[in-house]
Amino acid sequence: MNTLALIKTAQALVANRKGLLAMDESNGTCNLRFAAVGIAQTVEMRREWRELLLTAPGLSDCISGVILYDETLRQSKPDGTPFVQVAHDAGLMIGIKVDTGAKALAGRPDEKVTEGLDGLRERLQAYAALGAQFAKWRGVFAVDDGHLPSGACIEANTHALGRYAALCQEAGLVPIIEPEVLMDGSHTQARCQAVTEAVLRGVFEQLTRQGVALEALILKPNMVVAGLECAAQNTAAEVAQATLQCLRRAVPAAVPGVMFLSGGQSGELASSRLNAMHAVHVAADRREGPSPPWPLSFSFARALQHPALGIWSGQSANRVAAQQALLKRARCNRAALLGDYSAAMERS
Ligand code: 13P
Repeated sequence: MNTLALIKTAQALVANRKGLLAMDESNGTCNLRFAAVGIAQTVEMRREWRELLLTAPGLSDCISGVILYDETLRQSKPDGTPFVQVAHDAGLMIGIKVDTGAKALAGRPDEKVTEGLDGLRERLQAYAALGAQFAKWRGVFAVDDGHLPSGACIEANTHALGRYAALCQEAGLVPIIEPEVLMDGSHTQARCQAVTEAVLRGVFEQLTRQGVALEALILKPNMVVAGLECAAQNTAAEVAQATLQCLRRAVPAAVPGVMFLSGGQSGELASSRLNAMHAVHVAADRREGPSPPWPLSFSFARALQHPALGIWSGQSANRVAAQQALLKRARCNRAALLGDYSAAMERS
């Protein structure tokens, strides 16, 4: 393991106030998103969609890297150029989703555990040989106002994240650690904050136990938000304040970057909350605490792709307009990293 090379890769992912485009939906999830907007659920349509995303002109002005799914990593343009080469030529670093999905946790019907550790060492070696520089693994945590998530769920998922991360670093890939506290439900923001902090503490305990170099990974957490069905929703400033407080308490300063998932927030909400996090700490309000020790950025799937997918709708005539919609969301999120995002940007 070349730790210095891993550290440089991790730092490059968050350098220059850029974020990641997560386009690593499994075939099942991608098909669901296609079905929702009437796109045929075929391997060729998935290939066309991913080509549209990867070839959006100037994407790398705002995006440092892309997270791909196994199928996409092996696909090519019609002229035979592999997508790995397309991404490389566009100045995009290449990541790969390596978990095999969240499965029912035994005896706990409301909870899931992410699988994919069997054979992972060999798969990581194969992905590195194909050109991947980083990997992603997502664990999910359902929340309610009482018992969820269980200690068993936190332990099982954080242990898997620790083992995944150690294997990634051994294979020369930077692990993206994605513990997602879900937005479904009616729980309060305070409950989300308590659960997120407990999960993050569990994550870093496991990473330390498994000997993972904290300087050579990226954390991809949820923002601290109330459940979607909670009557009391919070302002962007409140989300920023709670999220930063939670992260400051639970995330070691050694971590080189925090890149949020969007989790089903709209593109506008995700951008405005990300902006508020930067506005909060540039405002130097001492009640909020010192500036965070890590760059804060984004690693969004839905909040970057959603408007573009609807515009494309599987029609090649809509390709350019869809790319423009993707680039707009990328620019809005990059502006948010500078504290420069505004509602006016959405109208432009
Ligand atoms: P969302 O931004 O849509 O939550 O997706 C991020 C991701 O990578 C899910 O694993």
